[in-house]
Formats: sequence, structure tokens, C-alpha cells
Amino acid sequence: MAGPGYRQVSFDVWQRMAAGWDRERRWLWDASHAVSEWMVEALAPRPGQTILELAAGTGETGFAAAAALGDDGRLISTDFAPNMVEAARAESQRLGLRNVEHRALDAERLDLNDDSVDGVLCRWGYMLMADPGAALRETRRVLRDGGGLALSVWGGPNRNPWASVPGRVLLGYTDAPPPDPAAPGIFAMADPLRVRSLLSAAELEVQRMEELEVRWRFEDFDAYWRYLTQLAGAIAIAIAAMSDHDRRALRERVEKAIEDYRSDLGYELPGVALNTLAA
Ligand SMILES: C[S@@+](CC[C@H](N)C(=O)[O-])C[C@H]1O[C@@H](n2cnc3c(N)ncnc32)[C@H](O)[C@@H]1O
Repeated sequence: MAGPGYRQVSFDVWQRMAAGWDRERRWLWDASHAVSEWMVEALAPRPGQTILELAAGTGETGFAAAAALGDDGRLISTDFAPNMVEAARAESQRLGLRNVEHRALDAERLDLNDDSVDGVLCRWGYMLMADPGAALRETRRVLRDGGGLALSVWGGPNRNPWASVPGRVLLGYTDAPPPDPAAPGIFAMADPLRVRSLLSAAELEVQRMEELEVRWRFEDFDAYWRYLTQLAGAIAIAIAAMSDHDRRALRERVEKAIEDYRSDLGYELPGVALNTLAA
């Protein structure tokens, strides 16, 4: 579990990332929709149900479930960062979705009644939380009996060079000690055994678990650098805090480090997400 300052830092990071995620939502969805479609298909939402999305970011995963809920059902799209909630709200209005409610909610302390939702979606959220065990217990508390949770986290660093390579270069450049693998972060729930044990401690049992490949494509290094500096959470904030000189030097090192992923079409960096259905 992370220290008390972590929540505030993480909140500030994601507030600042919302504009980039909003701007790049089409690119993000093109690369990652299969992960969300797996989650929605596994959860199998039905007309009239209430589905809660946690750490929804700009909202796409939940929106993919909204049509199945019909006019009598409801999607509660939530994130703890109000800027993300506003980006999701603007998009659901643009899409004309009438069965979506948007709320700023911290997944670790849900302001929702016990047994009030039929299903929960959470893509790439739990592993970033200070206490994912608490968030999963909250998830279980608000789920009606028989309700399911579809979640996605990232697999290990070796299989996700899009995130691990720049992370390693940054650590090397700043001489920072390697992070504790269980501390909140992209890879904190990469071990399927940890996912199972966190779920089981929250009285949720794994029903399906599957790895899904994701390919992040960038037309050139500028596009990858824009991703790192405007969307990449804690990495983006660390780069923003550097001097211009250090930032330029880091940029050169990252460009060298991802050379292996370069092709005539730009860069393509692979990744593996770990998707789970639990109930
Ligand atoms: C990597 S983004 C993923 C966004 C979205 N789920 C997606 O897959 O596109 C992580 C999101 O988790 C949210 N988040 C982090 N900690 C949270 C918490 N304790 N409660 C709710 N949301 C949280 C952030 O604000 C951010 O929007």
C-alpha cells in the first residue's frame, strides 16, 4: 500500500493528463478497443441493468456497454479526477448517450449504496490506486449478488516496452532507485497471482483471465514523445519537472532506446494487457 501523499500526487497527475487523453481519445481507442470489447462482452450487460465504470478516464469502455443497457438501464461513469469526468461527460453528450450519469468518485471510497449496481468495469485503474485491495472491497460492497467485475491491468514490463523502456531510461538518467514492484504503478498488478489474491481477499472469484495484445503505433518519434510528455501519467510529470537541458538529453536517450521498434511506418511498440472477469 502506498503512503498517504500518494493519493494527492496521483490525483494531480491525472487532473493534468485529462486534456491529452481527451485530445488523443480516438488514437487510444483505435489501439485498445479490443481490450474494452473483451471486458464488455465478458460482463454481458443487459437492458435495465446499472453498470458502474471506475477510473473511467475519458469514458470509452463504459460507453461501449451503454447501448446494451437500453433506456431503462444506466451507466454510472466515474473517475476521481474531475477533469477526466468532464472530458467523459462532453463525449457522452456528443454521442447523444442518454442513459449515462457522470460522477467524480474515488474507487477506494465509493459514495454509493451497498448492492446498488449489477456490474463493474475498470480498465487500467486498480493498479494505479494507493490501496487496490480497498478499491476491490468497495467494488464488492456495491455489487449486487451475482454481479460481475471486468477489469484490465497491464502485464509485466518485459512484455510492455511502450511503458517499461522509457521508465527504465528515466530511472537511469535520474539515478532513482528502482520502484517497489508492488507499489502503485503500471506494473503493480502484472502478476496474475496477485490479481487473484487481491480479488479473493475482496470475496471475488476469478471466472476468466486472458492476455490481450495491444500495439501502440506512432507516426514518428515526435508523436511518441508527445505521448510520453502529455499522456503517460507519472512519467509525463517527471519529464515536465526536468530542466530543458535534462529533458533534451533524456529525449535523445529514449529515442535510442526504442530504435528496435522503428519501421518504415514510424514506431510500433507492443504491449500485453491482462483482462479478468470476476464475480
Ligand atoms: C491509465 S488511466 C485509464 C483511463 C481509462 N480507464 C482508460 O482505460 O482509458 C487511469 C485512470 O484512473 C483514474 N484513477 C486513478 N486512481 C483512481 C482512484 N483512486 N479512483 C478513481 N479513479 C482513479 C485516473 O484519474 C485516470 O483517469
